[in-house]
Amino acid sequence: MRKPIMAGNWKMHKTIAESVDFVSKVKSNVSDVKDCEIVVCPVFTALKSVADAAKGTNVCIGAQNMHWEEKGAFTGEISPKMLLDAGCKYVIIGHSERRQYFGETNETVNKKMLSAFKHGLVPIVCIGETLAEREKNITFDVVGKQVKEGLAGLTGNQSSEVVIAYEPVWAIGTGKTASPAQAQEVHEFVRKTFTEMYGKDAAAKVRILYGGSVKPDNVSELMKQPDIDGGLVGGAALEVDSYTKLIKFQR
Ligand code: 13P
Repeated sequence: MRKPIMAGNWKMHKTIAESVDFVSKVKSNVSDVKDCEIVVCPVFTALKSVADAAKGTNVCIGAQNMHWEEKGAFTGEISPKMLLDAGCKYVIIGHSERRQYFGETNETVNKKMLSAFKHGLVPIVCIGETLAEREKNITFDVVGKQVKEGLAGLTGNQSSEVVIAYEPVWAIGTGKTASPAQAQEVHEFVRKTFTEMYGKDAAAKVRILYGGSVKPDNVSELMKQPDIDGGLVGGAALEVDSYTKLIKFQR
């Protein structure tokens, strides 16, 4: 059985004080939850404070991006070692907003993913097609290439520990969720592609999250799909009540 993950990607939201306040409230709401992994991904400046506030609880911390190098002359970047130092367990890699606005490619995604593992972080690797690509009927080509190139080169346990997040770009922040059937179709395809790369055992263990307008009122239907193992949530993970509901979704 794959343990679901409900990850909140806060994007460029919340000050340190707001972040700490949020996590303090959520951690008491969800202290009884054992069957779902809880991951919050604040902005860099709030990571350490949020990690301190969540210490000893079932709330884990993730970052939203990183550089693949450990250190060096890369002004404005942050390294995996620094994220680990701040208390992170996870790191989101290749979010579509980073691909769209900051030039992230399957190649940089791959470098970052391998570096995250090398330094002891668990990468959450994002993939997903744009609306134009879906309308051209090339969703499987695009997503297949992202998986084959972005997720190449995993060794040993890494191929079952990596987390994949399928986020159709047209569903992000638009209120247009992929229907459970639309999402399941792509998740199944991703698991099949992953099977070809790493074999059945790893593919059976790898968790594939869905992201794109996940809300308390659609989470249960999405989570009923056999290949959907959790959510990577933007807007609905910014409010304590809705994020709590997502974590405690109806099984
Ligand atoms: P929304 O949940 O706001 O659509 O954002 C999804 C997302 O991009 C999570 O990474």
